[in-house]
Amino acid sequence: MKRHTDDTEGGIHASEHGSRLTEREWHQREEQLSEELAKAHRLREMLVSIMGHDLRTPLSVILGYSGLIKKQSNDETVKRFIGKIESAAMNADEMIRDIKTYSKVKGGVFESDLEEIDLNAMLSDILRALDGKIEEHGITIDMMYQTDKRFPVLGNELLKNAFLHTIDNAIKYSPEHETVTLTLDDVGSDWVFGVSDHGDGIPDDEKDSVFERFMRKEKRGIKGSGIGLAITESVVDAHNGSVRIEDNPGGGCIFYITVPKA
Ligand SMILES: Nc1ncnc2c1ncn2[C@@H]1O[C@H](COP(=O)(O)OP(=O)(O)O)[C@@H](O)[C@H]1O
Ligand SMILES: [Mg+2]
Repeated sequence: MKRHTDDTEGGIHASEHGSRLTEREWHQREEQLSEELAKAHRLREMLVSIMGHDLRTPLSVILGYSGLIKKQSNDETVKRFIGKIESAAMNADEMIRDIKTYSKVKGGVFESDLEEIDLNAMLSDILRALDGKIEEHGITIDMMYQTDKRFPVLGNELLKNAFLHTIDNAIKYSPEHETVTLTLDDVGSDWVFGVSDHGDGIPDDEKDSVFERFMRKEKRGIKGSGIGLAITESVVDAHNGSVRIEDNPGGGCIFYITVPKA
C-alpha cells in the first residue's frame, strides 16, 4: 500500500489518488489499520502457541514411543527405521523451537529484563545443551579462551540462542570427527566471540543472504529451519553488537559475534 503524503491543510490530507481525506476519515483509517495490525499480531501469537504446544505434544509422543520400540526390539532393521523416525521428529521439534524463538525476538522483548550475563558461563550452558550433537558428530570442541575468567555483557536471555545457532551450525556443517574452535577476545569496549569450523565454508556471494529468514542451502542432506542465523542477527543487533563471517584459512568458515562489555 502506498503511503499518504504528509501535506496537511486545515485538517485535510491528500490521498494517493489525489482525493482528500477529512481529519475524521484519516483517524478512522488509522484506527482500522492499527486494529488490523493487532489482529495480525494476535494471529501470529496464536499460530506460535499452537505450534509450540499442539504440535510439540504429538512429536513428544512419537519420540517417546520410538525410544521405547528401539529399546525393546532386537531387530536391527526395525531399530534403523525407528532411528530415522526419531531423528525426523527431533528435527521437526527443533524447527518449532526456532520459530518460537524468532517470534519472541520479533515480539521485541528487549528493553525489559536486561541482566548481566557472563559469556563464559553462557558458552558452558550452550555446550552442555549441544552435548548430544557434539558426540553424535564426533566433534572436538577446542575452547581457546580463559575458561576461569568472566566476560560480562548486559543482555537478554535470547543472547544464548544467538550464540547457540553459530555453534550448532559449526557442528552440523563440519565433517565428522573435526575440531570446532571457540575464541573469546577482549577488544577495547567489546568482547569478540569466534567459532571456526572445517566444513565447506560459505562463498562470498552468500555471506549476507545466510542471515535472511528461511534462507538455507541443503548441504549433504543436513536439515534445518533456516532461521537460526536470522535469530542470531536480530538478537545481536538488539544488543548493539554485530555478526560477520570470514573464511577459515584452513577451509570452512569463522563466525564472529561482537558485543559490548557490561
Ligand atoms: N558453519 C557453516 N558452514 C557452512 N554453511 C553454513 C554454516 N552456518 C550456516 N551455513 C549456511 O547458512 C544457512 C543458514 O543457516 P541457519 O540460518 O542456521 O539455518 P539452518 O542451519 O537451519 O539451515 C544454512 O542452511 C547453511 O547453508
Ligand atoms: Mg542453523
